[in-house]
Parts: sequence; structure tokens; C-alpha cells
Amino acid sequence: MSRAKRKISKTYLAALAIILVASLVASAVVGKKFGNDGTNGTPSPSNNASNTVAPGGDVPANSTDNTVPSNAANNTNNTNNSNNSKNTNTQNNTNNTNNTSNTTPVTPVTPSDPSGLTPKQMAAQMQDYTVDPKTGQAKEIKVVDDNWLLLVNRSHALAEDYAPDDLVTVKYAVSGVGKKGETDKLRKVAAEAFEKMVEAAAEQEIELKMRTGYRSYAYQRDRLYNQYVKNYGKEYADTISARPGQSEHQTGLALDVGGKTENFDLSRDFGTTKEGKWVAEHCHEYGFIIRYTDGTKDSPGETTGFISEPWHIRYIGVGPATEIHASGQLLEEYLGVLN
Ligand code: DAL
Ligand code: ZN
Repeated sequence: MSRAKRKISKTYLAALAIILVASLVASAVVGKKFGNDGTNGTPSPSNNASNTVAPGGDVPANSTDNTVPSNAANNTNNTNNSNNSKNTNTQNNTNNTNNTSNTTPVTPVTPSDPSGLTPKQMAAQMQDYTVDPKTGQAKEIKVVDDNWLLLVNRSHALAEDYAPDDLVTVKYAVSGVGKKGETDKLRKVAAEAFEKMVEAAAEQEIELKMRTGYRSYAYQRDRLYNQYVKNYGKEYADTISARPGQSEHQTGLALDVGGKTENFDLSRDFGTTKEGKWVAEHCHEYGFIIRYTDGTKDSPGETTGFISEPWHIRYIGVGPATEIHASGQLLEEYLGVLN
């Protein structure tokens, strides 16, 4: 081969090698950015349920909810089933504090436990407030003062203008959720019980904080439910968020609790952490129950309709909570109100 030809051939080989290396580097970069599964890394609703940070929960994933655009309230939903009837606060004069049931051993209700009604009385009181057969929508429920057994769910909705009048700021709340501390509150009885629970847990080196407590009807609609519908579609949204008027958070008796292990985020794995286990074992001693126990992490419960939320606890009073803890019932079953 002539000298000139050998030179051309060397140059040619060197150029080929450069092209080969460059294309290998480019494909590695592209593979990393978009994922080898061909997606761009955005979790789909169906795999959200097993993310560490709950996608639905009560606060949009990975964000304090004051980052959620507030102008997204216009998605239509037909949940506003209660806005043409007036909110009725009826004073309950029944002073029966013994929520006894026949079979389960009952821890005596403490004198300070303000629960006012037996489950039967509650059920009787609520029998008129079931799903409207014509529209299939929840009818508005009456709010009875000092009735900690108040049932709020898909067929028992609160009026748009209902807000408890004894909300107080909770000492142990994650700051920055909601605007101006708007979700840092609970009704007085629940706030005091929660604070007592957090302090008892701390003595056993379990650190707990409330993430969100009371939420208004508008908050539930604009910052949560409608956002989830927009992001995930209505079907999935309905398994992770209550529609406005149908959230227990509007009662001021429910809250979401987080533990230090998960950095006080809402995690579907909360139940497996030491904090989650402590809450499951002890919250009834302070009057709380874990509410959505019929669902699993992947599928919604038949009665409540929600994917499990190990962080969502509801104050119902020590007596009833102790009974439910022993029986494993849902609040609906305990009250005998299965729609
Ligand atoms: N995530 C619960 C069900 C609520 O929205 O109240
Ligand atoms: Zn909740």
C-alpha cells in the first residue's frame, strides 16, 4: 500500500472510531433521561399507590399544598349535593355516655369523654339521611353538637357552609401545609386528645405530627379533590380523596398524622413504620380510630371506597374507639349505617 493510501486508511479508521464512541455516549444519555422503559418517568395513577410519598393522600404529592394553583377549582363535579339545604345544628340533650355493646368487653368511658350517643341512637338519628334514591347523591346530614360519632362519608355529607365553631390550633402540626395555617386546626376535643397522644408517644421516643386537620369545604374542593381529578381522572381521584362535603376533615375531628421516619409525609407505608405501628396500637386510648381499614394500598375498600390511609385518624371518643379497636369494625359497621 502506498504511503498516501495508508494515511487515508488510518484517518478513515480514526473517524469511524470517533463516530462509534460518540453514538454510544449519546444513547447512554438518552437512556438515562427517559428511562429504559420508554416512559419519561412520570408515575401513572396505577402505580402511584405504592410510591413512598402518597400521591393522593390528603395533600398533593411532594408538595406543601400552598403550591397548588388555586385557580383549578373549575372542574365540574356533581358533589355539591348539600348546598340547597340549610345546615342544622341541633343541640343533643341525650346524656348517655355508655356506648355499650353486648359482646365486646368495654373499657369504661372516662368521665371526660364527651361522647353523647349510643351507636343505636346515632343510627336512628341518621336513618333519614341516606342516599337520595332519585339522584343517587348523598343527602346533607345534621350536625349535632358534641356528637363525636358523627358519620361523614359518601352518603352522609356536610353542608358547604358547615364549619365547627370551636376550632383551635394544634400544637404539634407540620408547618407550611395550607396557607396561613388554615389546616392546623381541630375541634377542641380532638386537638386536646391528639396533643395528649403525641406527648405520650414522645415518652416512648415516637415522634408524631399532624399534617392536616380541619379542612373547609372549599379547601377540599379546590386544593384537593379537583386537583386529583385533573391529574389522575375522576375514577382514581375518588379512591384517594373525598368529594367536598364528604370529607371527615370538614368535621374538625379527623386529621392526618405523620411520623419522623417518613419525615412527617403521608406515606402508604406509614403502617409499617414504628410510628405507624404505635398509632395503630394506641390511638384508641386517646379516642381515635384509623378510619379506612377496608381498603388496601392498591385497592379501595368496599364500604368506604378509599385506598387505605394508615395516617388518617378520626376522633370518636375513648369508649367507642376502644370498642372499634377490639372489634375491628368500620365506623359504618359500628353505627349500623351501611348506607
Ligand atoms: N383522603 C380522605 C378520604 C379525605 O379526602 O377526606
Ligand atoms: Zn385524612
